[in-house]
Amino acid sequence: MRCESFSNDLVLSACDCLVLGLDTEWAKSSELAKLNEATNGLLKQLIETEEISTKPLKMTQIVAPAGLQTKLLLTVGLGSPGSRDANVYSRAAAAALKVIASKKRGIVRVVGFQGTGLSLRGAVSGAMVGCVGQDLFRKEKSLYQPDCIQWVGLDEATVQAGVILGESINFTRRLVNLPPNYLYPETLADEAKQLGRDDSVKVEVWDRKRLEAEGCGALLGVARGSVRDPRLVILRYNGAAADVAPTVLVGKGVTFDSGGYSIKPTDGMLTMKCDMAGAATVLGIMKAAVQFQVKHNLVAIIGLVENLISGDAFKLGDVLTARSGKTIEIHNTDAEGRLVLADCLNVALDQKPARIVDFATLTGACCVGLGLEISGLMTNNEAWQSEIKKAADACGEYTWPLPMHAFFTEQIAGKIADIKNVGEGRYGGAMTAAKFLQEFVADVAWTHIDIAGPAFLDSPKPWCDAGGTGTLVRTFVELLSN
Ligand code: BES
Ligand code: MN
Ligand code: ZN
Repeated sequence: MRCESFSNDLVLSACDCLVLGLDTEWAKSSELAKLNEATNGLLKQLIETEEISTKPLKMTQIVAPAGLQTKLLLTVGLGSPGSRDANVYSRAAAAALKVIASKKRGIVRVVGFQGTGLSLRGAVSGAMVGCVGQDLFRKEKSLYQPDCIQWVGLDEATVQAGVILGESINFTRRLVNLPPNYLYPETLADEAKQLGRDDSVKVEVWDRKRLEAEGCGALLGVARGSVRDPRLVILRYNGAAADVAPTVLVGKGVTFDSGGYSIKPTDGMLTMKCDMAGAATVLGIMKAAVQFQVKHNLVAIIGLVENLISGDAFKLGDVLTARSGKTIEIHNTDAEGRLVLADCLNVALDQKPARIVDFATLTGACCVGLGLEISGLMTNNEAWQSEIKKAADACGEYTWPLPMHAFFTEQIAGKIADIKNVGEGRYGGAMTAAKFLQEFVADVAWTHIDIAGPAFLDSPKPWCDAGGTGTLVRTFVELLSN
């Protein structure tokens, strides 16, 4: 699919579909005036009588509108420019393209989106997200990317920046959507290696032997139940001087989480291919950051394992020794993500980082607390956390800070080892998990992001098919671009 800037005559040049974004100030738009004139005043009439709505994401389809050189006119509401949610542009563009992508289309032209670079990049990337569904293994696709999307009034640089964002979000979504018999530690590591085709990225893959030599006992403990060997992948990108301390991005990559001997019920296990979304998010961010050649030094570390059951799997009561030397008593084999991350965070410390952020589908408790649309932020450094929150707010992605009181740490004291891998009972589960992770970051500025809710949709939304969402890829690419 091509995406390009368009500046020819709106009325005279033909297209298959015309998407018209309409905000409450539509009467001031010169493009709308042109289209209205071509339709003999019909458009204005329909808007005034509220047949066509300017409310956010409200859509109206008009087939073969008289006077316009298009088979389909799709209007989509953009609300009021003064008081609109930061995600309206990306979601409106996505929702419109999702409708249009229900069948094969040639040229789709989009008009009526005007605003800051940030919101326009959001629209372009949103459109790319909207027209890609979870059709990886379907003969009859549910969504078809059009041949071309033309953006009226956007400059080419803005369109191409949006394309990089859109491709990276869709890359993350595809990894999350791949089934666990296709995507497992080795194949996910291969996907990461592909990013190394760009000369500015160096990729290092640790196999089982290396993980043993490195003493990654926590990660290896989880991996023991699977016949598929684990991996730890390190990607390095230098966009600043060599002596500038890097930002380290860490991702949980449990390619399938059965719960282990603390086995999940079928309903809860069904979607647990999504448990590598943290790793996929990190890879999506790296993919875009490299293409933008951002001015930061970045290290990405992803821990890849399957959490399964076998005669050799880790058990309740086992004690694992993490790479840091801390000993961990296993009280629940379903609290595996923090074990994988414990060793990844320790490897992160070796990079002498300026700051660390980790992404993980870590706890159901975070979904209970914040719902399915908001990622939980937990930190040892308020400044780093609020920088992330601000970037997410600006992009219209939802995050919210959760408390990190010292007393949560008391709950993870071990009986015979240094710590245990769950708190006391299930209350406060998102925070006790974060406090466990904090044991492995020393005093480096660190923010943990629990994406268990937003990373995966059980059912489709108007602006995104079900499955992986690519949440926070855009936020971090924008954050690193500033
Ligand atoms: N991968 C799950 C968390 C999860 C739940 C992700 C729902 C996405 C959707 C994680 O490994 C897990 O099982 N956590 C346990 C922790 C508990 C045993 C302390 C949980 O949340 O129940
Ligand atoms: Mn689990
Ligand atoms: Zn898990």
